[in-house]
Amino acid sequence: MSSRYTIRPASPSDAVQFSPLLQTTFREAFSHAEGMDRLELEKYLSSALSVDTVRTYLEDKSIIWLIGVSSYQHTDANCNKTNNDNDNDNDNAHDDRDSDKVEADQQVIVGVIQLNLPESTKSLLTSPTLFEAVTLPNPIEIRRLYIHTSFHGTGLAQSLLSQAEHLAREKGFQSLWLIVWSGNGRGIRFYEKCGFELVAEVADEDGWFKRKDSVMQKSLV
Ligand SMILES: CC(C)(COP(=O)(O)OP(=O)(O)OC[C@H]1O[C@@H](n2cnc3c(N)ncnc32)[C@H](O)[C@@H]1OP(=O)(O)O)[C@@H](O)C(=O)NCCC(=O)NCCS
Repeated sequence: MSSRYTIRPASPSDAVQFSPLLQTTFREAFSHAEGMDRLELEKYLSSALSVDTVRTYLEDKSIIWLIGVSSYQHTDANCNKTNNDNDNDNDNAHDDRDSDKVEADQQVIVGVIQLNLPESTKSLLTSPTLFEAVTLPNPIEIRRLYIHTSFHGTGLAQSLLSQAEHLAREKGFQSLWLIVWSGNGRGIRFYEKCGFELVAEVADEDGWFKRKDSVMQKSLV
């Protein structure tokens, strides 16, 4: 399988493309969750990950966003596909991205990672459980690592994580920590193979889902 993408920092003007990617991948990550209130989830997504809210995240200087972008190449017969798709499923012209009409050679956001500088997250200081669990020195939080399903398994997630690690080291941080839903087997396996260690489980509750989350950390030194 081949796939082409480049990685760059995000800017507020990316919000229009960014918001649907975040909403879709978030919805998919929780698609097999039992006991989730799907109506409440949709309300949450349409406020917390709306274009306007996402733009405020992108304007926030205490959050660093890196995005993976890929070119769509337009032809009459094949107008909605990524380079990755073109390599692999030319016979499947009516997939679930058929509604996402794009211009010729448009750059499309296919993945994202969020690094939260300590001033943007008080959770380590306000949650005794997190404070005890995250034991490595000088930590910085990875918040959202979301990859479009057509780029799962392509190495984009690893590339985004490794560029985020590089940036974190440059800024003097010595470790990474994150929270991931404990039912997200693929996410946890991915973080484990990238060197993260599970250090705690915490109970979490939003209006739409009562769940257990896993806390993971990784040394950068
Ligand atoms: C999590 C995510 C970033 C990982 O990127 P990816 O490209 O899919 O990751 P990879 O394919 O490199 O690795 C996934 C690993 O999980 C394994 N896996 C797949 N499904 C799994 C499952 N249901 N349970 C356990 N492991 C699973 C894969 O086999 C692979 O491990 P391997 O390389 O040892 O075979 C991506 O899937 C994604 O964006 N998911 C939706 C959003 C999300 O859940 N983000 C993380 C929480 S913020």
